[in-house]
Amino acid sequence: MTSYLQIADDEKGHELDLFCVPRHYENDLEKVIIPHGLIMDRTERLARDIIQDMGGHHIVALCVLKGGYKFFADLLDYIKALNQNSDKSVPLTVDFIRVKSYCNDKSTNSVKVIGGDELSSLSGKNVLIVEDIVETGRTMQTLLSLLSECNPKMVKVVSLLVKRTPRSSGYRPDYIGFEVPDAFLVGYALDYNEYFRDLSHICILNDQAKEKYKV
Ligand code: IMP
Ligand code: MG
Repeated sequence: MTSYLQIADDEKGHELDLFCVPRHYENDLEKVIIPHGLIMDRTERLARDIIQDMGGHHIVALCVLKGGYKFFADLLDYIKALNQNSDKSVPLTVDFIRVKSYCNDKSTNSVKVIGGDELSSLSGKNVLIVEDIVETGRTMQTLLSLLSECNPKMVKVVSLLVKRTPRSSGYRPDYIGFEVPDAFLVGYALDYNEYFRDLSHICILNDQAKEKYKV
């Protein structure tokens, strides 16, 4: 059973005034739902769990851009720290893929994978896919079926967030940081039409901001 930190539907979150939030976003956010420090603490533990399961074999960490870049960088720092400070260590290489499925605050049916020709190099490897958030599960299922054509030895998926939503296909990643309510979240590299990646905490976007940054 995958364990994760559950953020309840009635979680009130934290007032923005209690944290440092960029001035340019002050009026766009409802609440801080996961402060940066908590993200880091949970990520440290995910690194330990992953190494315990996958350790011993060379791991190719595959970052799903752009939303996954912060989590990817921090998770790998923790994995590196484990490698540096224990008797056992595992070689780690990195790869990057770009996936786009969202317009405004809605997941679209088409999942576009950019950089797919790089995937053939994953043949015979132990692959760790690093994703920011799983909502319907469509992005990950598309990526997993593409990847299986390249015959990797093992594929595991870690997602920082999983959304509790009736739109879910039922897909669950192997490792989950937090399970979150069905709201549109931004920050820590999660975006709304490319904005809010430059925000450290994970926050709930307010309705005015959805209009303001609509495309
Ligand atoms: P899925 O294919 O519906 O599972 O959606 C996954 C992708 O949609 C994620 O990788 C994100 O890029 C994006 N996404 C889903 N929910 C959110 C959200 O609340 N904020 C920002 N991006 C999201
Ligand atoms: Mg993503």
